[in-house]
Amino acid sequence: MAEGARRHGAGARASHLVNGHLAVHEALEGRLADLTGRPRALLFSTGYMANLGVLQALCDEETRVFQDRLNHASLIDGARLAGARSRRFHHADLADLDRLLERSATGALRLVVSDGVFSMDGDIADIPGLATTARRHGAWLMIDDAHGLGVLGERGDGSVGHTHGMDEVPVLVGTLSKALGTAGAFVAGSEALVEHLVQFARPYIYTTAQPPGVAAATLAALEILPPSRNAAPGCTR
Ligand SMILES: Cc1ncc(COP(=O)(O)O)c(C=O)c1O
Repeated sequence: MAEGARRHGAGARASHLVNGHLAVHEALEGRLADLTGRPRALLFSTGYMANLGVLQALCDEETRVFQDRLNHASLIDGARLAGARSRRFHHADLADLDRLLERSATGALRLVVSDGVFSMDGDIADIPGLATTARRHGAWLMIDDAHGLGVLGERGDGSVGHTHGMDEVPVLVGTLSKALGTAGAFVAGSEALVEHLVQFARPYIYTTAQPPGVAAATLAALEILPPSRNAAPGCTR
């Protein structure tokens, strides 16, 4: 962290799109894309802002968002700020999600949103089940893996990572403030998704990039990310 600050300064001084996007941010985005097995990752200054940014950039008044009842507040707030219509399904209840999707057939975008690991209860979402249900109804799936990243998966790549590709989870959010011990967040996905966020996600566009020392510390944390010990059965409740 100190080395990053010495080399690049204590602050990034501007937003990514002006001249705050430094080499250390670029390197970190590349490393996060590799970690999660996605073509691109985009840094945000906090997880709250990442969730606001994605939902605001993808959704409008026509969009229907289907949220697990125990989703993090930033996901609920993001949909609300986008003006999208949110429906909440019973926690981890795929039949309830299926029923809500069935009832809301529409030509507009439908987005299923869930935590990967639920922040207060610690249980792990059924990602394949969510992906299958979303796909059956032509909906997109967004997973916030704040609590899975660095903990689950053979390489610490989380509850989604390389196990569940972009066909299953096109929108993946991770935070750097939990297992990686620093601050900030990222959205990982296709080139088109990330480019769309660069152009339209206001919480990305209109804020100063994260301090370079924080990005350097995150790169260091990723280097020492231990192999996962969680593969043992019994980690879900
Ligand atoms: C599931 C989840 N998503 C997003 C956030 C927000 O991340 P940040 O603290 O980086 O804003 C948190 C907690 O802080 C969280 O538990």
